[in-house]
Amino acid sequence: MEESGEKQRVCVTGAGGYVASWVVKLLLSKGYMVHGTVRDPSDETKNGHLKKLENAVENLQLFKADLLDYEGLCAAVAGCTGLLHVASPVPYQRVELLEPAVTGTKNVLNACLKAKIKKVVVVSSVAAVYMNPNWPTDRAMDESCWTDIEYCKGIENWYCVSKTMAEAEALGYTKRSELNVVTVCPPIIIGPMLQSTLNASSLFLLNYMKDKGNTVEDIDYGIVDVRDTAEAILLAYENPEAEGRYICSSYMVRTRDLVEKLKRMFPNYNYPQSFTEAKDNLKLTSEKLQKLGWNYRPLEETIVDAVTNYEESGLFSH
Ligand SMILES: NC(=O)c1ccc[n+]([C@@H]2O[C@H](COP(=O)([O-])OP(=O)(O)OC[C@H]3O[C@@H](n4cnc5c(N)ncnc54)[C@H](OP(=O)(O)O)[C@@H]3O)[C@@H](O)[C@H]2O)c1
Repeated sequence: MEESGEKQRVCVTGAGGYVASWVVKLLLSKGYMVHGTVRDPSDETKNGHLKKLENAVENLQLFKADLLDYEGLCAAVAGCTGLLHVASPVPYQRVELLEPAVTGTKNVLNACLKAKIKKVVVVSSVAAVYMNPNWPTDRAMDESCWTDIEYCKGIENWYCVSKTMAEAEALGYTKRSELNVVTVCPPIIIGPMLQSTLNASSLFLLNYMKDKGNTVEDIDYGIVDVRDTAEAILLAYENPEAEGRYICSSYMVRTRDLVEKLKRMFPNYNYPQSFTEAKDNLKLTSEKLQKLGWNYRPLEETIVDAVTNYEESGLFSH
């Protein structure tokens, strides 16, 4: 990736996280120079894997920056032509969500304005799309559907509030500044981990395979592979036609069907014994992203690669 003879420099926030690690890997493989922000560059458990990525020694620089540390963010984006904002608290344990997600996004985008960055991709979530009780149940949710913030506050779903507020804030920058901001909204992201610490969404498959014979909710989920998510983020970054928000969901699966598939593929694990009555269908469409050129791999490939990765990481033994 060259710009006037020089390799293009891109900043990735929260570089050591599950999704961001794949984004950094993809950028490095395509010849970009990468500035990765992490909260603690000396934390080898969280960030050691980044240094082992191909081309990392020459082309990856880590910067210490919390999302609430505006000066740290400014130092990280200096000299970059683009930024991929991936960092945001993802609930695994109860953590403070709103401040890092919303103020953090503002800090990142203000740092981008100061550095005269041209293009930004913000990783949002379908959490900012689907929590809308007024959307017609027979219509697939597209990018015009926004989560109802007041409804989510009422049911105390703070992750959905945080992602919706952060995405709306991010898209507002495109309207009122020179910054070109595009957002990508994935559903549950699964697939192999590059990092050594377990992230929240990897528990999704793991928990069904380590079940103690419980009754689980039979509901619809959108699913996407972490590598296809990284491709979508880079496509949104590189394609000059990209604008607004993009739902990035490959498959809609119902819990019961997913568990049956897992059982067929990996019979020697402990699965839920029964399911609640099925609820209304959730439908998401990624047509807009596909029109931009996005493709995704078969679900079976994602499952095999994810489970193999969990086995190799010893995640079934505890
Ligand atoms: N995984 C999914 O299923 C999914 C689905 C839809 C959208 N997303 C979005 O994708 C993005 C990445 O999620 P992920 O699954 O990769 O989660 P993850 O592995 O937990 O990564 C989250 C990253 O955010 C960083 N972070 C959190 N709070 C921060 C703060 N105050 N300052 C600086 N960095 C902070 C974390 O840094 P530390 O390592 O220092 O904690 C970590 O690098 C998030 O924006 C998430 O909302 C994820």
